[in-house]
Amino acid sequence: MPETDLLKGKRIILGITGSIAAYKAAEITRELIKREAQVYVVMTKAATHFISPLTLQTLSGNPVITELFYERGPQETHIDLASRNDLLLIAPATANIIGKISTGIADDILTTLVLATTSPILMAPAMNEKMYYNSIFKENMEKLARYGVEFIEPEYGELSCGKKGMGRLASISKIIEAVKTALKRRKDLSGKRILVTAGPTQEPIDEVRYIANRSSAKMGFALARAAYEMGGKVILISGPTLLKPPLGVEFIQIRTALEMYEAVKERFKEVDIGIFAAAVADFHPSKAHRGKIKKEEKGLVVELTPNPDILKEIGKDKGSKILVGFAAEVEDLIANASLKLKEKNLDMIVANRISEEGAGFEVDTNIVTIISKEEAIEKLPQLSKDEVARLILKKVVDMVEAAGFEPVTSSVRRMRSPN
Ligand SMILES: Cc1cc2nc3c(=O)[nH]c(=O)nc-3n(C[C@H](O)[C@H](O)[C@H](O)COP(=O)(O)O)c2cc1C
Repeated sequence: MPETDLLKGKRIILGITGSIAAYKAAEITRELIKREAQVYVVMTKAATHFISPLTLQTLSGNPVITELFYERGPQETHIDLASRNDLLLIAPATANIIGKISTGIADDILTTLVLATTSPILMAPAMNEKMYYNSIFKENMEKLARYGVEFIEPEYGELSCGKKGMGRLASISKIIEAVKTALKRRKDLSGKRILVTAGPTQEPIDEVRYIANRSSAKMGFALARAAYEMGGKVILISGPTLLKPPLGVEFIQIRTALEMYEAVKERFKEVDIGIFAAAVADFHPSKAHRGKIKKEEKGLVVELTPNPDILKEIGKDKGSKILVGFAAEVEDLIANASLKLKEKNLDMIVANRISEEGAGFEVDTNIVTIISKEEAIEKLPQLSKDEVARLILKKVVDMVEAAGFEPVTSSVRRMRSPN
């Protein structure tokens, strides 16, 4: 799609806060208007010390809102604005606004708008280097990222204090690029909430040793990332892994199969779609010893107790939710996977022969066969796990459309509540 069409007619709220870089918001407004976006500027009180609302009003062609409490005229209220925008961009974003939003404070027009919006939120921080590296600020930023806010990283360069350092507002072209990417993202899963499980589980024998498997969590993480990129609100529950959780995804780390079961039971209620890619251990040691078991000449016998079959338990009571499972098989791939699909009441199963080169554990690629409830079988070639994830999700979107169901999450905002 040409860039003009991408931004044409899109309603963008541009939030401006009290940074010395606020004057650059005029240029951002101009660039957005040039691409035929509709820009609605909202300024904090501090921002008005740095740039005049009149400048932004003239450039955007729309009234600029600076007050939460004002005589209501015929113009839109902040709630109208928040419910109709395609994107909320805060550029520049001060440490203060990021801190306030991360704790849910809504004491001025911009913070109130952020809490009321359901659109994607982009923030371009700008501040002094010491502020940028401040641990409290970092924590606030990370918290917002977990709730789905996207950040446009500041740059290294000359700061207003005259010194060089990190914290300079990202370049205008980088900000416009980020806006385009956010708008371009396919929104097929928009408004849907998806739970993805990933990784291995660890079943402790004692405080030092455990039983686990070779799952790297790569497939599950790729699914979570792709679901988020398609507009979904994603909860990722994963066993231990060194991978970094994808940006914008709510991440829950568990260790054992029983912990995963508890987390899944708790969170499955609130989603429309469940994709279970974790390699959950089938057994756990009946007794996890305190301390470290001493090395014995006669060896060690570990008694194992079966773990709950999480997918089967969830499948029993899934209602109209869409449930996708994974089957890692060594032989009789199709027959075994088809059996699992039926036994666990799944809508779709993704089967892979783990003995095949370029498939299964630890590698970046996968070779999968997708089997639907209607018994349609599709074998995919060797693809990257990201590509496999996108193809799986495309099929999920088809199922959602065919079912025509209302998401349970239609009233859930993009800024998720912390619980
Ligand atoms: C000259 C000057 C420049 C400032 N520049 C920044 C800045 O770049 N980034 C920042 O986080 N705060 C900056 N501040 C501090 C903020 O203006 C201050 O924290 C204010 O409360 C922010 O309010 P707001 O977030 O509601 O806009 C600056 C203050 C002054 C006086």
